[in-house]
Amino acid sequence: MTRNKIQAALLCLCVVLLYCVSARIGQHNAFLNAEAIDNTELDEPQDDWVMPTPEPTPTPTPTPYVDPDLPDITIGEWNYKLIDNNHVLANTFIPPEVVETENSQYIDSRVKEPLESMLAGAREAGFDVCIRTGYRPYRSQAEIFFGRASSIAWDGTVEYAEAEMIARKYVAYPGTSEHQYGLSADIMDSQTTTMSAEDVEELPLLVWLREHCAEYGFILRYPKDKQDITGWYEPWHFRYVGKEAAEYIMDKGICLEEFIAKY
Ligand code: DAL
Ligand code: ZN
Repeated sequence: MTRNKIQAALLCLCVVLLYCVSARIGQHNAFLNAEAIDNTELDEPQDDWVMPTPEPTPTPTPTPYVDPDLPDITIGEWNYKLIDNNHVLANTFIPPEVVETENSQYIDSRVKEPLESMLAGAREAGFDVCIRTGYRPYRSQAEIFFGRASSIAWDGTVEYAEAEMIARKYVAYPGTSEHQYGLSADIMDSQTTTMSAEDVEELPLLVWLREHCAEYGFILRYPKDKQDITGWYEPWHFRYVGKEAAEYIMDKGICLEEFIAKY
């Protein structure tokens, strides 16, 4: 190869190398420019650019659950009135009209017919049944309660104030007994002398009354499993509330406090 040919080949090689280097620099500049454009868009919004407002998401209004079986009643009516340690009757309260019923007991006149029908139903079913206590005025409740407290304190082993606290476990404090309201009756057979709740719970008469009382508008007011709410366990104490409420309460196995809380 001649010296001239070598020089020409070297020249060509240089030209090719220069071309490649300049092409690569061009690509790099184009990349930098593109980045600069992107950054400009991100960092400096155009004047006419408006942040899109998101479509408001409609919030559904929660619909409270309404039990379809719950009777459509006015809970403030006379037959739903709650009487317990937190809902106390005045010492002047007497029912509008009190009438005599079986066994020389008294009851609110509006309840005489359903009560006597229930007793007739029990007799037809073969039971010996009687009302032990119906309406009891405030004064009688006070005599029973303070008499009990006095007898507890009698021997001096406890102070009178403590004796009243003990008496409250056995006798309703005056004003807190449903018997003063006139819609309740303690029902038993005529033979049983004990009033121990555990002992009489399964008496066939009381089982029958539990199963049928709602047909006459009554509820078992103090069932064993609601003692923590009502404060009492008395398988003999039935309270009139009317058929609609009674059927709901007895079917659902709730107490009057729980029923009233649904309204
Ligand atoms: N013994 C029940 C609690 C009453 O007097 O109502
Ligand atoms: Zn009672």
